[in-house]
Amino acid sequence: MKTTFLKLNKQPESNGYLDKHQFKDEFFFNLDVCFDSDTYLVSLTKSIPPELMFNENYAYYSSLSSTMRKSFANIAKSLKNIYKPKLSLEIGSNDGVFMKNFNTNEIVSVEPCGNFADFTNSLGYKTYKNFWDYSLSTHIKNKQGTFDLIYSANCFSHIQTLDDAFRAIKNILSADGVFVMEDPSIQQVLDKNTYDLFYYAHAHVFSITSIQNIILKHGLEIFNVDSINVHGGSNRIYIKHITNNTHTIDASVSKHIDDELLCGIGVLQTYLDFEKRVRKSKKDLVLLLETLKAKGENIICYGATAKSSTVFNYCDISTDLIDCIVDMTPDKQNKYSPGMHIPIVSIDIGLTDDVKYIFLGAWNFKDEIMKKEPEFIKRGGKFITHVPIVHIINE
Ligand code: TMP
Repeated sequence: MKTTFLKLNKQPESNGYLDKHQFKDEFFFNLDVCFDSDTYLVSLTKSIPPELMFNENYAYYSSLSSTMRKSFANIAKSLKNIYKPKLSLEIGSNDGVFMKNFNTNEIVSVEPCGNFADFTNSLGYKTYKNFWDYSLSTHIKNKQGTFDLIYSANCFSHIQTLDDAFRAIKNILSADGVFVMEDPSIQQVLDKNTYDLFYYAHAHVFSITSIQNIILKHGLEIFNVDSINVHGGSNRIYIKHITNNTHTIDASVSKHIDDELLCGIGVLQTYLDFEKRVRKSKKDLVLLLETLKAKGENIICYGATAKSSTVFNYCDISTDLIDCIVDMTPDKQNKYSPGMHIPIVSIDIGLTDDVKYIFLGAWNFKDEIMKKEPEFIKRGGKFITHVPIVHIINE
């Protein structure tokens, strides 16, 4: 049974960066989050059509962050060493940040965002410009056969029709093959109070337990789990056919599942308690920003993220509190943030000498960002975050 436990108000498409003339056509839906007591899956109660989010205008480039480049290079190297795949498949290849660690004849990919699919195809990496589903898996299987390694990072949490997506994995994974998926962890969201991981592109935030519950019925099972720091705390989950005995089931699987159950991920009350903490976070953040603004301080946001879109639209924070958002992504610059219409500019333009406070819209890159801005820190600049509670970091 599904129960809605969190209501994050009306929200726009969180990656929809706008020109002024587009304000009037912007659409908003109630962003509600529910818990399924059968599978323990946490999902959006209602989603919007994927084509509205994942198209040729998708403005999230995985390669821009050095943290992400390193993370993808390391995992690519490690997976190649361990599993020695003849042919690999990546689902959701974005701008090729993972794929580029392979030769063009060693990997193919699936990517529905036209800008990225065209780009990686132009580099010589065969990229299917499609959404991942069962019929595509059959089409690719007919052309290329089955795959020894399938990798998908920050993609399955976008897929609304999970049963079909896992059936497609079952269809195309070789008998001894390994499917590795990594996505943000609901346990980390609960621990860190990061309600901003909920936005339209995230149809689900997974526990390991929920994935196990869903894939068992498709003849798949988890055999290993790593906790990783990416996106504020994610799980890298290794999956195989139940019938495959080549890979033994690591002790990490039951350890993680036991930890999750102890933390209450299977109990509705856990999510109701979380909802109270989210409401407090909103109150505290608005109070802090209003207090600073009343003292005449200039506050900007660092990172035009989908997460900051959730925070600003939920907390009703607009240009009265945040002067602008700075972001290094060219496609986001000189646009306006979804819903609250805060101007987005390059760091050179937005981080002027009179800025005293930076709200970390990309709190998941806190270390990378703080390392980049020693001058701001030297002149007494302060960073604000709401993770895990609202506070000034370097006070
Ligand atoms: P994400 O948190 O959804 O991964 O998005 C991070 C955003 O923050 C992305 O738009 C790039 C931006 N960003 C900067 O502008 N400067 C930086 O130093 C870092 C790490 C990210």
